[in-house]
This record gives sequence, structure tokens and C-alpha cells, in this order.
Amino acid sequence: MKTFIEKLPKAELHLHIEGSFEPELMFKIAQRNKIDIPYNSVEEIEKAYKFDCLQDFLNIYYQGAGVLVNEQDFYDLTYSYLQKCADQNVRHTEIMFDPQTHTDRGIAFETVINGISKACDDAKIKLGVSSLLIMSYLRHLSEEDAFKTLNQSLPFKDKIKAVGLDSSEKGNPPSKFKNVFEASVKEGYVPLAHAGEEGAAEYVWEAIDLLGIKRIDHGNNSLQDEDLVKEIIKRDIALTVCPLSNTALRVVDDLKNHPLKKMMDLGLKVTVNSDDPAYFGGQVNKNYMEIQKALNLSKADLYQLAKNSFQYSLLDENIKLVYLNELEVYFNNNK
Ligand code: HPA
Ligand code: ZN
Repeated sequence: MKTFIEKLPKAELHLHIEGSFEPELMFKIAQRNKIDIPYNSVEEIEKAYKFDCLQDFLNIYYQGAGVLVNEQDFYDLTYSYLQKCADQNVRHTEIMFDPQTHTDRGIAFETVINGISKACDDAKIKLGVSSLLIMSYLRHLSEEDAFKTLNQSLPFKDKIKAVGLDSSEKGNPPSKFKNVFEASVKEGYVPLAHAGEEGAAEYVWEAIDLLGIKRIDHGNNSLQDEDLVKEIIKRDIALTVCPLSNTALRVVDDLKNHPLKKMMDLGLKVTVNSDDPAYFGGQVNKNYMEIQKALNLSKADLYQLAKNSFQYSLLDENIKLVYLNELEVYFNNNK
């Protein structure tokens, strides 16, 4: 199973680039920028990465992102993640970034987007990993603030495929961002959002009905509402599930109780992703391996998960077909 997963061609659809920031690189960039971080060693960092809930994690995640200043920092962060993609047979990835985390500290939008997108361009050529970008609005901030970000993004529209919604879910429902999502769609961005991670099924309803999202990030709590599950299936919306994130943030108490297989059996289209791999104890392949073991998934289940990852990506249909064909050949030779 380990080798089967390692060699399985796959896409990652739920990844926050700021959450891929490994301690070693964080130290290096902090030093380069002469910024103090409250840790003296990798061990100290790892000790601090114990979370009780989403907010606990977010506080530490925003602090870590605070050492990113120059275009080169964003480039190095992104290229380092893309190298891990290449090592894991992640053939395509859809990368979320949080512009407000940086622009609120006085970093120009341009610095962030140029660093990230140059790394993506280089990785396509040098590593053969394709990628596209999802600009995520921080839901703990106001809709007005999100509008500012939307406007800042417009000169770089050709580099951004979609908009997302992340950060503290509880108390910040999708309805708060109805207008900015409408405006984002008018600009040509595909609407996506985190929903039903800590928030109730009602938030998922809002995300699909009011924001018109094409994919749900997490979506675990959709299972609380049978009618919602039916509606998600009817609209053919996928859920980007993140097993190790769910246990790290206590959305799920134990991987053995993770609802992923139940979701698949209900007919929901789910994918496996790492979310914030530097903080949650594993890259995407580790997520596949751990959930395979915990739920005793078959090779056919893993094939289905990888198939969904290409099928529900935001790639053009003709490119999807190329990846899907590569996956099918792999599965037929390795079942
Ligand atoms: N949920 C919400 N916001 C986030 C996450 C997450 O899992 N990771 C990074 N920002
Ligand atoms: Zn996420």
C-alpha cells in the first residue's frame, strides 16, 4: 500500500501555502530578514504545535507567516512545497494563499503574488508539477477588507484562478461575504470556501446557496444534514477532506472515526489533502497512508480518491483527461 500510494498520480486541492512553512525554512528566512521568532530550535517549534481547536492553530500559523517579507521568501516557500509535490507524485496542485495576512503587515500584494507565481512557473518547467492559485479571503476580517483585496488582485488576474474563504469559521458565516463573492465571480474567479469544518451544516448551505461555491473545503459537518448531503451530490460539488488536519484540530477525535469512507459510501465526491502539512504532521501522501490504515481502504478506494482529485480540479477538461489517463494506466498496472 505504501508504494502504491507513493507512486499514485494525484492532485492536491486543499493546501495553504503559509501552512507548508517547515520549521527549517522558517528559521532560515527569519534569520535572513533579521526577525525574531519565539523559538530556539526545531524541537521547540514542534512542541508548540499542539492545538485544541482551529483558533489555537491559526494564532501560531499567522505568527509563522510574519517572517515572510520579500518576493524571494514567497518564492522559496512555494518552491519548497512544489518540490515535495514532485517527490510524492502530486502531478497538479491548487494552492491557497492569504494575501491579507501579508498586506496587513505592509507587504505589497505584488510581492506576494509574484514570489508565489514565479515559483509555480519554474516548478512546471523544472519539476513537471502544474499548479493554479486560489486567493483566500480571511473570514475574521470584514467584507470591506475582502473587497480591498479583490481590487488589489485585479492587475494580477491572469495569475489567479479562484477565490476561497478561510480562517476562523465560527461566528463568520459565508453570508458575511455574499457581495464580495458575487463581485469576484463577475471578475472571473471561481468561488470556493471552507465550510463545515468547525461550523455547522447551515454554513455549508450558505456557502453553496449564497456564495455558489464549486467545491467545499473540509465539509465534514455536511453529514449532520441528510438533505444537504443529497443537495451536494445533486450539484456534483466535491469535498476536499484533510484527515490529519481534522485530528490535529480535533474536528475528529481519532482517524478510525473519520467520516471519509462514509462520505464515499453516501456518494459524495471527496479528495484527500494535507491542508497545512508543516503544522499537522504530514504531507499529502502521509494523509493517504494514515487514512488508508485507519479505515482499511482498498486500492480501488485510493484510486477513486485520486481520480476525484483530478476530476474536481479546476483544470481545463482536456488537461484533466491527460492526468486521468495517466492515473488509469497506473491503476490497471498496479491493482
Ligand atoms: N481552516 C480555516 N482556515 C485555515 C485553515 C483551515 O483548516 N488552514 C489555514 N487557514
Ligand atoms: Zn484549509
